[in-house]
Amino acid sequence: RLRSFLQHVLESRCYSTVMAEEAKKLAAYAAVDNHIQNNQVLGVGSGSTIVYAVDRLAERVRQEKLNIVCVPTSFQARQLILQHGMSISDLDRHPDLDVAIDGADEVDDTLTLIKGGGGCLTQEKIVAGCAKRFIVIADYRKDSKALGQQWKKGVPVEVVPMAYVPVSRAITRRFGGEAVLRMAVSKAGPVVTDNSNFILDWKFEHAHNWKEVNTAIKMIPGVVETGLFVGMAERVYFGMEDGSVKVR
Ligand code: 5RP
Repeated sequence: RLRSFLQHVLESRCYSTVMAEEAKKLAAYAAVDNHIQNNQVLGVGSGSTIVYAVDRLAERVRQEKLNIVCVPTSFQARQLILQHGMSISDLDRHPDLDVAIDGADEVDDTLTLIKGGGGCLTQEKIVAGCAKRFIVIADYRKDSKALGQQWKKGVPVEVVPMAYVPVSRAITRRFGGEAVLRMAVSKAGPVVTDNSNFILDWKFEHAHNWKEVNTAIKMIPGVVETGLFVGMAERVYFGMEDGSVKVR
């Protein structure tokens, strides 16, 4: 009976969720330990993996008395920084960041990312673009050969609210697939970003030249930003199922 119970636990979704959480933590701790030093200005990403990075950062700031200034990428990141009592700033005061650390929804072989599962892609891209080094942390489920293999929800595109229909049509006419307005979990209305915009999730049908697609989508009037991060990530830390950390 014990064996069948253990079998059940091993095969259950609950077990893989626990594994994924542990993997997020491994990646986050490794990235913070390898890239954060005293007197740095740090961009803090958004999502569930970054929570572990901020935990570790706060621990090191306390223990090693580090002087670290954090620039958040979202309301969530801002809350995390404040809850840990760390120094917070913005791009007005600190437009040059030493490092930005953030999660991702999918990472391909060339370190092209899909981001924006949490809807914070615009500020995340701005902050990453201001950093000398952009470091990504993720669990093993985000590791992919080609975008779309792992993350099935498509590429998030932040749009000005009045433009969501024309932008959706323009994307699908040119690149196929479908671009769907992201709704709140309650279904009571669309998700509204920290910038008061909407999100379209573009479910593409096949691989594209992501650099060209990113540029083309950004040219559509009403598009604020895409969740395609091309040529930005310097290094990605994946927490693996076996407890190791894979660095790409
Ligand atoms: C939010 C993001 C997140 O970084 C991305 O969705 C990964 O989130 P998580 O760490 O929860 O898997 O881009 O806009």
